[in-house]
Amino acid sequence: MVGRSGDRENLKTKEVDFMGRLPFIAGNWKMNKTVEETLALVRELKGSLKEIKEVEVAIAPPFTALHAAAQELKGSSIHLASQNLFWEEKGAFTGEISPVMIKECGCQYAIIGHSERRQHFGETDETVNRRIKAALNHGLKVIFCVGETLQEREQGVNFLVVERQIEGGLKDFGELALQNLVIAYEPVWAIGTGKTATPQQAEEVHLFIRQKIRFLFSPKIADELRIQYGGSVTPDNIKGLMEQENIDGALVGGASLNADSFSRIVRFKEM
Ligand code: PGA
Repeated sequence: MVGRSGDRENLKTKEVDFMGRLPFIAGNWKMNKTVEETLALVRELKGSLKEIKEVEVAIAPPFTALHAAAQELKGSSIHLASQNLFWEEKGAFTGEISPVMIKECGCQYAIIGHSERRQHFGETDETVNRRIKAALNHGLKVIFCVGETLQEREQGVNFLVVERQIEGGLKDFGELALQNLVIAYEPVWAIGTGKTATPQQAEEVHLFIRQKIRFLFSPKIADELRIQYGGSVTPDNIKGLMEQENIDGALVGGASLNADSFSRIVRFKEM
């Protein structure tokens, strides 16, 4: 999944080519878009991203629109992600959605541990770990989200928080699991606030995450791991972020709800 070598020579800038990691832009639609609205946006994206190569693209509509989106995406290179999943396969878990169901809907990815799940729905490092495990066991790839709150950053514990989230979320995992995992660093203070982390602020945490993965797993796994930045990403700030050595993509919320802004983000190399 990481870096198709044939694409490498086509990459325009040295930075995005670093270690051959294929840039990955994903749109997290959150609780937005009905089935009808999803189909309309997917059709627009299929058109505007038709010739896109050298960048992996995924969208994460709400559960209710996944199946319809998958049908509409047939034949397109845009991947589909769920915004969450539960770890059991089936049973008496009212309101939950299993990895089997997510796969059946046509998803290749699952976003897990988003800060809104942690903040509003009691997600912990332990439950994140169980969800990641279940997703990987069912052949889904995972976008694993980490990031500190404003208070934590102001207290100077942002690195400690991210470290704890990574150690907890990836507990008991081997190198194989990491091959199907992307980490998204999303500082909570930057999500939906219009207050993006500067490329330097993001880069220092991305580098820290990569070093942590090197220590926990191996240099090879760390070099191959793609780390997305998330938090108020727009067409105006994507380029500066992507120029950083350890930023390999973006998890985009608000700006992914519109075909024009999302496509411009995906086309960051053309700026
Ligand atoms: P935002 O959301 O781009 O609207 O800040 C990012 C996210 O929550 O994934």
